[in-house]
Amino acid sequence: MGVTPGPSKLRRVDNVAFVNPSVIVMMDVSSHWFLPVVAVGPYKLSNSVLLAPMAGITDLPFRRLAWRLGAGMVYGEMTVARPDLWHTRKSTERRRLDRCIQPSTVQIAGAEPRWLADIARRHVEDGAQIIDINMGCPAKKVCDQAAGSALLRDESLVRAILEAVTGAVDVPVTLKIRTGLCPSTRNAVAIARIAEASGVSALTVHGRTRACRFRGSAEHRTVTDVVASVAIPVFANGDITNVDQAKTVMARTGAAGVMIGRSALGAPWLPGQIAQGLAGGKPSELDFAARIDIIRTHLDAMHGFYGIERGVKIARKHVQWYLQRLGLDAQMIKSFNRLDLPELQQRFLSELNPTLVEAA
Ligand SMILES: Cc1cc2nc3c(=O)[nH]c(=O)nc-3n(C[C@H](O)[C@H](O)[C@H](O)COP(=O)(O)O)c2cc1C
Repeated sequence: MGVTPGPSKLRRVDNVAFVNPSVIVMMDVSSHWFLPVVAVGPYKLSNSVLLAPMAGITDLPFRRLAWRLGAGMVYGEMTVARPDLWHTRKSTERRRLDRCIQPSTVQIAGAEPRWLADIARRHVEDGAQIIDINMGCPAKKVCDQAAGSALLRDESLVRAILEAVTGAVDVPVTLKIRTGLCPSTRNAVAIARIAEASGVSALTVHGRTRACRFRGSAEHRTVTDVVASVAIPVFANGDITNVDQAKTVMARTGAAGVMIGRSALGAPWLPGQIAQGLAGGKPSELDFAARIDIIRTHLDAMHGFYGIERGVKIARKHVQWYLQRLGLDAQMIKSFNRLDLPELQQRFLSELNPTLVEAA
């Protein structure tokens, strides 16, 4: 399979692409450190801390940041496999890739094998290097289809989808699942075996069932069972917020890595920091000025990507998370949310300083 070296830090050794070679992952098992080399198809990841796909969040501006800040792989927002939706504004924006981010991974969602195969092909034509299939979303319907984690109830449909997609493209196909439909029907192991037999290259397991939605705590015992059942890399996902948790989950489950979702909201540096910590280094703490720099870069990118009107609105969502993490109070956040021009948003951030935050 060809790997197109872009203007990124990608270098090529034999048949394997090394991405972001500055970070390497080590894993602590029974106090022995070793380096698991995680490869998804031909793509050898620099580290195995992944940024989760999150619709409405992991757009291109956010992915660029998380990638530059050290995430091992970043997933785009899901695109729905319905031919009539391919050219909508939403799909078009979600399909945009940055060739500096390698491997470029897109996620697809749907229930119709033919449509999923078709959309996967189109993504590859557009430059996608890995196709991830969403069987983890708990929404009742994804654009009128019982897709996402609802598919887990029908193992033969799962097989048909996976075979259709792996047969349609010559890039690695990965799968993201929950542990099952509900606590009494956890079939993640069966699904994982089907996935491996269908040619899927890696698997992510969110440690909740569909019925659990986002309630309670994620359990990673099922991940241990999945890891024991297949030879492809398995990534653990759910409620992982720091290096220690990542180490514990990887050591207990044998997972090849972890995927970070909500804890990266307002913290695109988190996957990279966790990767640094797993590599035995001390995660670099970002001081106030460094965070403001990142937020301002993100702001600029959102204004550029979405245009002024939408960019300003979308920025409010992200900046609110950043400001909460900085310790700003609700009043300050409200003031930011009243600003309706890119330059006013930028100025607000440029005028922030630690004293203001301490006073808040
Ligand atoms: C706002 C939001 C949007 C999400 N969108 C997707 C999605 O498009 N595809 C997907 O597979 N999972 C999606 N997820 C689930 C996450 O990828 C992840 O599995 C889940 O949040 C658990 O991980 P966490 O505890 O680290 O957040 C979404 C989660 C959130 C909070």
